[in-house]
Amino acid sequence: MKNITVIGSGTMGNGIAHTFAQNGFNVSLVDINESALQKALQTISTNLDRQIKKGAIEESAKAATLANIKTFTNINEGAATAELVVEAATENRDIKLKLFKQLSEICKDNAILASNTSSISITEIAAVTTNPGNVIGMHFMNPVPVMKLIEVIRGYATTDTVTNTIIDLSRQLGKEPVEVNDYPGFVANRILMPMINEAIYTLFEGVAGVYEIDTVMKLGMAHPMGPLQLADFIGLDVCLAILKVLHAGFGNSKYAPCPLLVNMVTAGHLGVKTGSGFYTYTPGSKDLVVAPKFV
Ligand SMILES: NC(=O)c1ccc[n+]([C@@H]2O[C@H](COP(=O)([O-])OP(=O)(O)OC[C@H]3O[C@@H](n4cnc5c(N)ncnc54)[C@H](O)[C@@H]3O)[C@@H](O)[C@H]2O)c1
Repeated sequence: MKNITVIGSGTMGNGIAHTFAQNGFNVSLVDINESALQKALQTISTNLDRQIKKGAIEESAKAATLANIKTFTNINEGAATAELVVEAATENRDIKLKLFKQLSEICKDNAILASNTSSISITEIAAVTTNPGNVIGMHFMNPVPVMKLIEVIRGYATTDTVTNTIIDLSRQLGKEPVEVNDYPGFVANRILMPMINEAIYTLFEGVAGVYEIDTVMKLGMAHPMGPLQLADFIGLDVCLAILKVLHAGFGNSKYAPCPLLVNMVTAGHLGVKTGSGFYTYTPGSKDLVVAPKFV
């Protein structure tokens, strides 16, 4: 396998493209938005500089990695020769179903179609394609070049061959694949999102402030980052979308999104990507500049 198409060049898409390109794959990065593609190339370049500075890669790896990435706004051109597509477009069911229907018409019959969805059913996505056995979940973690885990999600129809190919490929990327079955939130978000939602409820109910909640979880539970800061990094819109899937999928009120999260998303305060969430950030940077807003 050599030709990989990544659909969506946002937070996750740029990291997935970076990781495949750094490991010698030809990457076609597709987004409907040209400025998102340019921003992704800029982010990849900055992240490669950071890896060089840390001594994680050689200086020469930067040019080689960037040379492996081509960008497209036209999905027909970007996906035609793909052996594997990794879809990392916006977490929206209708967008993903439309994309997979389109991909199954554009791509070769034996192409594997993977989704990086955090919560949408792989079985449902597969059902709109002509070859559901070739559809699988490949759930990378943020930031992709750094995080070791890939949650490999088997849909109802996913074949053993496709699962084993994705497990081998994940190891080629230096990642640790973990195989799970297709139920709402899979494993990672079924456990993580209720914790983040509970942290938001704790803030909403005035039990403690942002700093206090994150500090309890960092120093008390040895989490590298507090749940509210983590929510900012993931994107509050993404967190809300996943909670809605858990709520609808299990029909259990324990997954109901906190009204404060709903309000923040409605107001466009989406975390790092908009410069404002539970914390505020320097535009275009992940550095915290202002301590907690709600104290
Ligand atoms: N953010 C995280 O920490 C995280 C972690 C794991 C998985 N995910 C999943 O990864 C996926 C992407 O999330 P993100 O945080 O990168 O989102 P994002 O909002 O940062 O980026 C999404 C990108 O998709 C593009 N897009 C939308 N519709 C498209 C289409 N039809 N064709 C091509 N491009 C399209 C948008 O222009 C945007 O650039 C989601 O399914 C999300 O659930 C996110």
